Amino acid sequence: MFESSTSSNSHKLPEDFLLGAATAAHQVEGNNRFSDWWEFEQKGLLPARSGNACDQYALYESDFDLAQRWGHNCHRLSIEWSRIEPREGEWDDSAVSHYADVFGALRKRDLEPIVTLNHFTLPAWLQQDGGWTSSDTPRKFERFVERFVRQAGQTVRFWLTINEPTVYVQQGYINGEWPPLESNAWTHAFRAMRNLSEAHKLAYSAVKRAIPGAMVGFAHSALDVQPCDPSKLSHRLGAVSRDYILNELFFRMIGASGRRLRNTQHNLDFIGVNYYTRCCVKAGTSGASLLFGQACKLNHHEDSGIQSSIGWEVYPIGLAAVLERFSRYGIPMFITENGIATDDDNLRCRFLTDHLKVVADSLAEGRNIIGYVHWSLIDNFEWHLGYKPRFGLVEVDRESLDRRAKPSAELFARICQSKRVSC
Ligand code: GCO
Repeated sequence: MFESSTSSNSHKLPEDFLLGAATAAHQVEGNNRFSDWWEFEQKGLLPARSGNACDQYALYESDFDLAQRWGHNCHRLSIEWSRIEPREGEWDDSAVSHYADVFGALRKRDLEPIVTLNHFTLPAWLQQDGGWTSSDTPRKFERFVERFVRQAGQTVRFWLTINEPTVYVQQGYINGEWPPLESNAWTHAFRAMRNLSEAHKLAYSAVKRAIPGAMVGFAHSALDVQPCDPSKLSHRLGAVSRDYILNELFFRMIGASGRRLRNTQHNLDFIGVNYYTRCCVKAGTSGASLLFGQACKLNHHEDSGIQSSIGWEVYPIGLAAVLERFSRYGIPMFITENGIATDDDNLRCRFLTDHLKVVADSLAEGRNIIGYVHWSLIDNFEWHLGYKPRFGLVEVDRESLDRRAKPSAELFARICQSKRVSC
């Protein structure tokens, strides 16, 4: 495992540092009947069904009580567009006031809300109209965002427009694992990227019009991309092009150039960094992999970490690398996801401390990091993988939906309360 570069065995976080946990609507709320995911699930096109998930649409207050009791001071969640606009142009005020109540419930518990406006799911009607491949979708998103934020969002300061656009495009249009289940649909993939970047820019301005002091960013899936064998030119080339597609392209599309951002043009007040693992790239043998290389899953390096239950390498030092890299933009960074799928909670405890030590070290080196939210507060619906992967600090009984805190929840509570990451 990663050894800290500092000699101190207690890593301090700033007193005003934001610490909490994250979820997303479709993964925890349950019964999102009007979303594209729900429709694909019901038609049997996906390997798993979300069903009642964690029923958090009803149980949010008691879940927030847990976060409050453990000394979290922020909480990330997403709103479900398909509940608010179940049919095009039909606005459900009860869903809007539900979310206003949810934000109020967070504020009441001194939890700063961090709200994602789009976390992978779309209303089914919109997916039927072409989803993110349609050039009308960015304007529809803007309309939705502006109305929602004006009506329900006045108490929220931190907004994430879109969650992991590159992952969405890869899973939906290249790998064919998520709706709309298209494989190697490159034209659609590039169109979706373009429309997602357009949607981000429009939503950024819409939120700022409604709440001028808001902090608006998007959640970026930040992978530490490395050549599998740095001595091989083909591996290095694969890593460079893959890194550009995964870590640069979207930033450029929204007008951020990789250098320090000038005030007016960047459409970004902070960067949401979702970090889980590194990606080692070797030379590809055919098709697109000739250009972008191929992910090497052998885990055969001297410094290879152990793997999570879904095969993601535990690699804390990669978080330092991505924080260094994204600090180039000269705006605050917020770690909006970091966590591990495992049934071994001791491993989660080690994962937590090792990654938070990296955060403390990066802060000490002068990186502008304003918060960290752990993925996830509770075990939940992990998309096409269903309920098997467990990312939660809290276990959810799949029959009764009863919550049971894991030891990692208590460990994280001590860190939140002391703002100290001890060995
Ligand atoms: C993502 C999402 C989350 C996941 C989490 C674990 O990265 O896919 O933002 O919804 O559940 O990252 O895979």
